[in-house]
Amino acid sequence: MTTPSPAPSPVPSPVPSSGPEPTETTIDKAQQQALWTERSAGWEKWAERRADMAEKMNLPLLELARVGTGHRVLDLASGIGEPGFTAARLVGDAGHVTLTDLTPAMLDGAKRRAEQRGLTNVDFQVADAESLPFPDNHFDRVTCRFGLMFVPDKLKALREALRVLKPGGRIGYMVWGPLEDNTLFRISRQVAEAVFDPEMMAFMRVPFSMSAPGSLESLFAEAGFAEIEERPFEGRPKAPLDEPFYRTQLDMSFGVHYSDADQATKDRIEALVVDSLQPHRESDGYRLQVHSRYATGVKPD
Ligand SMILES: C[S@@+](CC[C@H](N)C(=O)[O-])C[C@H]1O[C@@H](n2cnc3c(N)ncnc32)[C@H](O)[C@@H]1O
Repeated sequence: MTTPSPAPSPVPSPVPSSGPEPTETTIDKAQQQALWTERSAGWEKWAERRADMAEKMNLPLLELARVGTGHRVLDLASGIGEPGFTAARLVGDAGHVTLTDLTPAMLDGAKRRAEQRGLTNVDFQVADAESLPFPDNHFDRVTCRFGLMFVPDKLKALREALRVLKPGGRIGYMVWGPLEDNTLFRISRQVAEAVFDPEMMAFMRVPFSMSAPGSLESLFAEAGFAEIEERPFEGRPKAPLDEPFYRTQLDMSFGVHYSDADQATKDRIEALVVDSLQPHRESDGYRLQVHSRYATGVKPD
């Protein structure tokens, strides 16, 4: 069960950032919840239209973690349901997936998606990855896609995953690779810098706090996992020249700060995005770059 969502904070007027960039990549949990609540409608709006794209990242992650028929899976920081829903398909009727997230509003979106899809082998629980409300040795698999970067104490969160896993159970986590290898994030960051405030810039930095190759591997080892393996996931997707495909990214990165902005601000943001896309233009589309990293590890017997 989820608790009622906190109301989104009011939309501040966009102001140009000034002064030196903060370098902190940790945001406390109350602020995390507020920031994700502001973005939850944007994430839910695009979720089904992005489901095929989500699956392209979910499948390698779940395959590396060897998620299969009959498994009991815990998905952390599930947001609006990825990769939990793909895991639900892989485990089948004999298995079960518990989707969790710190932010009730995100998980409420996942619940609505599960109802629309008629999923019967899932349940939902608001949970902080650093302090899991589950018994020891309970799950066959623990998964987490694009969530660990947001958790202040990552080692504590991994030790919690280790605790709730059965001996011999596996984890599978995915994080974003370097910012310079992720075109749309690089462009979002340029927008944040030009249009929004330093708080937005600080939030834009967090997704890349684990981007160095080997980050997952070394943290897994420190937490006590064995048989660790980390891989890159790299892609060069092509985006259409004649459609505002980038609005998805803007809704998801900036939430209400973009969707509720006045038309002049929206026009300014979109002009900036289109301008920044020009170096990536080819005759039949924009050639983008995507780089994430994913890893698995086993709880020793
Ligand atoms: C980028 S979204 C990822 C959502 C989903 N896994 C996906 O890949 O689409 C990050 C999510 O992490 C959640 N989150 C942040 N801090 C958390 C924490 N300490 N414990 C659990 N979830 C957290 C946020 O609420 C948000 O829904």
